[in-house]
Amino acid sequence: MSMKNVLPALAMTAALLASGFLMASQASAAGLSAQVAMPKSYKGKHMPAGGWTDAKMLARGKEVYTGKVNKKVKCAKCHGVKGKPKAKGARDFRKAANVQKFSDTYWFYRISEGVPKTLMKGWKGKISEDDIWAVMAYENTFSHGGKAAEPDKSKWEAPKFK
Ligand code: HEC
Repeated sequence: MSMKNVLPALAMTAALLASGFLMASQASAAGLSAQVAMPKSYKGKHMPAGGWTDAKMLARGKEVYTGKVNKKVKCAKCHGVKGKPKAKGARDFRKAANVQKFSDTYWFYRISEGVPKTLMKGWKGKISEDDIWAVMAYENTFSHGGKAAEPDKSKWEAPKFK
């Protein structure tokens, strides 16, 4: 290849690589990243018995989700009133594939601690533990046609601890 042809060829390669990276990052935004190990303090954290379908908890969860409990914690702003994502990088909570891998422990951990370097902050300290369970029960309805439901635990990934 002559010197004259090298530069355009390099530019082409760079463009192809860039588009490949773009596609890769879009794919990861659509799917769910691999679960990370949680601090041991999260071991044994579980949804209170009957919580997923408890009417009072679901009502409270909706209040948390829509920012009525703490206006600085408004999940709906980024995750959409009915789970249809609004913020860049937020996943569609209406799709079971995006949420069914979450064990109650992992879900609780993510909401408490957030996802580093994303818009998803850790919300512990801003809402109580009880309210985190409540908002989880509420969010779970999005992937169950808007109805209260017990998640299918057989789909849960086993939680990992560090
Ligand atoms: C300012 C925007 C914003 C707000 C407010 C917000 N989230 Fe998120 N949330 C995100 C984004 C963006 C992600 C995706 C992070 C990533 O890349 O994994 C996310 C991810 C999640 C996840 C999945 C975690 C994972 O591993 O991907 C859950 C569950 C979640 N949010 C629940 C909530 C709940 C519950 C609230 C309210 C208490 C809330 N979020 C408030 C932006 C937000």
